Amino acid sequence: MTIKASKATGTQLELAAKALRLGSLVAFPTETVYGLGADAENPLAIARMFEVKNRPTNHPVIIHLSTEDQVDYWAVQVSDFAKTLMRDYWPGPMTLIFSRSQNANDFITGGQDSVGLRVPSHPVALALIEKFRELGGRGVAAPSANRYGAVSPTDAEAVRVELSEYLTDNDMILDGQRPAVGVESTIIDCTQDRPIVLRPGAITVQMIEKSTGLSVMRSEDTLLRVSGSHKKHYSPKAQVLVDGKSQTGEGLIAGSHVETPSGVIRLASPTSVEEYARMLYSALRQADVLGLETIRVVPPVGEGLAIAIRDRITRSASE
Ligand code: TXA
Ligand code: MG
Repeated sequence: MTIKASKATGTQLELAAKALRLGSLVAFPTETVYGLGADAENPLAIARMFEVKNRPTNHPVIIHLSTEDQVDYWAVQVSDFAKTLMRDYWPGPMTLIFSRSQNANDFITGGQDSVGLRVPSHPVALALIEKFRELGGRGVAAPSANRYGAVSPTDAEAVRVELSEYLTDNDMILDGQRPAVGVESTIIDCTQDRPIVLRPGAITVQMIEKSTGLSVMRSEDTLLRVSGSHKKHYSPKAQVLVDGKSQTGEGLIAGSHVETPSGVIRLASPTSVEEYARMLYSALRQADVLGLETIRVVPPVGEGLAIAIRDRITRSASE
């Protein structure tokens, strides 16, 4: 199948919302990475989405909403600190985990009693979800638009390369402005009496503590399943190495202060942590396009978003 990406104009957004309602799949940009969207209430559409991703069906998927007043449809026992987080950081790169309502079926939650919700800030994502809502839709389930275990896509072309052979004429890939963040949303478990970060992202522990006034717990203390927390993930075909000096013929991803040894192929030289996050996934993909065998990565130092970047690099490098 040679599906093409379409510019996310008003007309294309209308078509995409209709496609979702009819049970087709729509890949769309968010401020973190591209998602592969499906109607969160359509079991057949969700089953196909898992097939296209080649993802185990017991992995839960995040439901994307256009406003926080849709939370109560999917979740129960929404705590005060969760409401504070929503007010401060939605729309934005933050997913909250709640106890599920009866509307959140096993095919969404992977059989768990919790459900993950997020209001993204990317204008195309918001417009799509809003139009879908006008057609009676309740939420757009969307994992990252990559095959299971592979690198998340940060542009429409990467989605096409990754998934077009599994998509049909009725599915769509919407092309929009590049994700401003570049790594996946922070996942925060809100089912306990304190927030627990299950996956680090652009909404940092300090931001969560400042907003809620609560101390944040570490994810090792919980038994919830997070697919990105399986050790190997976010992996290109090339081998990712974090230690040692780069050798001739290898790719190199490092901050701009690191020089490129001769014979080494520079894949990215970000000048800030924010730019590092935006460039990381396309640089990993570029190595595969060039057919490189090895990518040497010098991770960023420091707190905040650098923690999320190091988390993804470590996973992409694990065997
Ligand atoms: O930034 C993002 O979150 C992107 C964009 C598209 O929104 N989405 C994304 O989805 O990264 P995905 O499926 O690739 O990763 C979502 C993670 C998975 O590891 C999943 O296990 C976890 O969220 N998750 C979803 N619902 C959950 C739940 N009820 N309990 C625990 N983890 C959950
Ligand atoms: Mg993913």
